[in-house]
Formats: sequence, C-alpha cells, structure tokens
Amino acid sequence: MATIPEAPLALTGKTIPLVGFGTAEFPFNSTESVKEAALHAIQLGYRHFDTAALYQSEQPLGEAIAEALKLGFIKSRHELFLTSKLWISDAHHELVLPAIKKNCRNLGLEYLDLYLIHFPASLKPGTAFPCKTEDIVPMDLESVWKAMEDCQKLGFTKSIGVSNFSSKKLEKLLSIAKIPPAVNQVEMHPIWQQKKLRQFCDEKRIHITAYSPLGGHGTLWGSNQVLENEVLKEIASSKGKTVAQICLRWVYEQGVSLVVKSFNKERMRQNLEIFDWKLCPEELHKIEQIPQQRVNVIEALVSENGPFKSVEDLWDGEL
Ligand code: A2P
Repeated sequence: MATIPEAPLALTGKTIPLVGFGTAEFPFNSTESVKEAALHAIQLGYRHFDTAALYQSEQPLGEAIAEALKLGFIKSRHELFLTSKLWISDAHHELVLPAIKKNCRNLGLEYLDLYLIHFPASLKPGTAFPCKTEDIVPMDLESVWKAMEDCQKLGFTKSIGVSNFSSKKLEKLLSIAKIPPAVNQVEMHPIWQQKKLRQFCDEKRIHITAYSPLGGHGTLWGSNQVLENEVLKEIASSKGKTVAQICLRWVYEQGVSLVVKSFNKERMRQNLEIFDWKLCPEELHKIEQIPQQRVNVIEALVSENGPFKSVEDLWDGEL
C-alpha cells in the first residue's frame, strides 16, 4: 500500500496528504461507481478525498468510508482527510451552517477536515447548476466568511478555505478574515502553472491544492490538451513514465497538494506511483517553457448583469 507524503497547513497546524482522490464523476449521480472507486482507493492508500455538494458524491463516498472501516482497510475515520465544498446557492450567511451540517450528514461524518467556498460568487438560494445567468449574484464575502469561521469554531470542520479565488479576491478575503483561509483549491497543471497565484499564496502561507492536474479531460470543463501535450509526451517516453505521471509528479514537486480523479483501477494505482523518482532540471525547464492556458475558464459565471461582466473580471486578469 502506498504511503502518501503530507504537508503542513501552515495556518492551522493540521496536515494535508499531497495526493488526493477526486470524486467528481459525470453525470453527477454516478453513486455506485463513486462508492466502488472510493473503497478501492482507500485500499490502495489514498487518504485525502475531495467531494462537494455539487458532485452528489458525498453519500456514496460516506458509504465507502463506512465499508472500509468495517473491512479494516482503515482503523478510524481520523486516518482520512475529507474536503467538501459549499455550493454557491448556499453561499449566503444564514445558509452556510445548515449546508455544512448537510455535507456532514451526507458523508455520515461528524466533521470535515476542510470546507471550501466552491466559487467566488453566490447563486440565488435553491438554484442548481448549470444556472441561469440572472441567478448569479455578488457574494457578501464578509458575512459568508464569518459563517465559514463559525463552521470551524463549532467543530464541523478542522479548516476552512476557498476554491477558484484569484490573488485579488484572496487579498480582499484576508483583509476581512479573522480565521484566514488555509487553502485555495484551483486548476493547476503543466499548461496552467498558476505562477502568480502560487507566489501570492506562498507569501500569505495559503496552501494550494491543484484540481484537474491532468487537465480534467472527460469532465464538464476539461480538455485533452494536457495529456496530449508534445513536450510532456516526449519527457514521459524518455523516462518510461506515463504523461499523467509526469503531470502529477510536476505538480507534486511544486510543493502543492493535488486531487486527481480516476475510477479506473490501473490508473488509480499508476497515479500513486510518483514518489520514488523525480524530474531532472532540464525536464523541469522544458515544462516551465510550455505556453500557458487556463482550461477551466468557468464562463457560466460570467453575465452582462451579474457580478462578473467578463472572464477578466472573474479571474481579475489571471488568464
Ligand atoms: P478515468 O476515470 O477513466 O481514469 P483530472 O484529475 O485532471 O480532473 O482528470 C480526470 C480525467 O483523467 C478523468 O477522465 C480520468 O479518467 C482521466 N485519468 C485519470 N488518471 C489518468 C491516467 N493515469 N491516465 C490517463 N487518464 C487518466
């Protein structure tokens, strides 16, 4: 069984496993496959699981955890690191606490390890995704974050953070937060390296988790540009590794954590075999030179009358 290195979450005194298991499978109601994959993942040694109210994977993941305990794959829930996310129709002060209680109930757990605001916008309460543009409303970050802080103070989560926040949005959050965000979970891979955001987060001691470290192909938002990249293919073939392993190793070497989704047993195993070799300086240099492109632009949050009039607004120019 693989042992996955962990990193400290500087602002909380907790640690986070550097390779985690993504559970967003399309369509979002693939409950049986989530349960089966998550159970196998625990057996292989994955300890960090990433879910969200949006993905509808909390309940099958919870069932897999209960089964893993019964089968003795783990002795206690404390061996796991569970991340879940606040769906943005619940990103309203009074809806946050009921939302995290529901996240926990779905998972059958008393607490999360990390709770993230999924996107830097709110939707009118009760709105699902994909949403109508008129349902997108500005988030009252101060009151929503205060409710996130309450979730941590009340013990429903060990740490709190955000997802899909630019440096500018983090700066605003830091100016109002009593408990600063421990994590910003964002798209990151060799063709969207997030250099500016990483530098900012390093300075502020905010840990980054990379989602879609393979470019998320096969997902709603993803593309095969990463796994089909010629530079990565060349490095993979000269090292006798797969392109996916090169991507994951590169992300891991940047000192951030990652969540990778595969429900295929062979690929789940392969994605953990990245710890006993490394990229050499020339390979790192070649990856550094790859032209950059954000894959997950999230145009669905952009609208003429909403809080983000353009993708530049949404990402504050980090494109
Ligand atoms: P599958 O579940 O069939 O393995 P990301 O983690 O960047 O969001 O990427 C997820 C996508 O990449 C999924 O479609 C997943 O498909 C695929 N994937 C995961 N691991 C590998 C791998 N080692 N090689 C090729 N494709 C992979």
